[in-house]
Amino acid sequence: MSSILTGITTSGSPHLGNYVGAIKPAINLSKKNDSFIFLADYHSLIKQHDPDLTHLSTLKIAAAFIACGLNTDKAIFYRQSKIHQIMELNWILSSITPKGLMNRAHAYKAMQDATKGQDKDKNVLMGLFNYPILMSADILMFNADSIPVGSDQKQHIEMTRDIAEKFNNTFGEFFTLPEPLIDKNLPLLPGIDGQKMSKSYNNFIDLFCSSKELQKKINSIKTDSLMPGERKDKNDSLIYLYFQSFCNDEDIKKIDNYYLDGMGWGDLKKMLFDIIDSELGPYRDKYEKLISKPSLIEEVLSEGEKKASKIAQDNLERIRELVGIKSLNGK
Ligand code: TRP
Repeated sequence: MSSILTGITTSGSPHLGNYVGAIKPAINLSKKNDSFIFLADYHSLIKQHDPDLTHLSTLKIAAAFIACGLNTDKAIFYRQSKIHQIMELNWILSSITPKGLMNRAHAYKAMQDATKGQDKDKNVLMGLFNYPILMSADILMFNADSIPVGSDQKQHIEMTRDIAEKFNNTFGEFFTLPEPLIDKNLPLLPGIDGQKMSKSYNNFIDLFCSSKELQKKINSIKTDSLMPGERKDKNDSLIYLYFQSFCNDEDIKKIDNYYLDGMGWGDLKKMLFDIIDSELGPYRDKYEKLISKPSLIEEVLSEGEKKASKIAQDNLERIRELVGIKSLNGK
């Protein structure tokens, strides 16, 4: 059976975009594959430096996965920071990664481009620069086959393959070259104003907000000014992307017809609210219960961390041996 591995950075509260783009697909894949699902808490430090935010976000995202149905007996669910072997592998991989490869990373280049003045690297933290190596360590530590990610992360998986290949050629075959698993049918869910859904644009919908709040947010999603009775263009409609994210093939055909028939935006939004609210309602209740019992979440994660550490330790021992770091007794 092939294995999947994916991580989510703990630098915010889970929103609807995280749910349809990361949480739900990972949970679905974990039903049919061996899976490693982890909270990328060391990645969080690259994005922001508020300790309370990192801590609370870790709790919320862990609770979100469990509330939304992740089977933590089957999937290995853990915090990156608890698997010390990842940091050790991070160093080994840093030692063979050309700086030139990292110079091409989109996130690094975007930061340089945003910096005015002579020193383009002024705002570039080493964590950001090294980020693709840490991500490679996350993946290669477990020799995962497929990495479900958004298309923005594709380059990082390509870099991981390059780094794995370099290791294999230098020290001997050990790492599997991972494949990105990008669901092309899954549109990126934008925020209620049409821009990327993000806390910083204040256009996000909290995954576990109340029904009332959800309705309010859906009502404020941008539409054009076509009246009821006028044919609507699904390709030019923000809420259609929301329908696509929550409907199966059969239901989306019905929605297509409502667009053609000219159903009013108000009615379409009401329908969208009902669909999302009935999917999330049960998760919301579970989430509330979980979040009030952090020790339960700690326990679930500790179990996953035991399993992950064991695999990581076995792999690390072999990797260390390949690079020549081994006991002086014997050979
Ligand atoms: N960088 C990913 C993101 O921002 C999160 C992540 C960290 C990840 N390590 C990973 C995803 C390893 C997949 C595999 O979305």
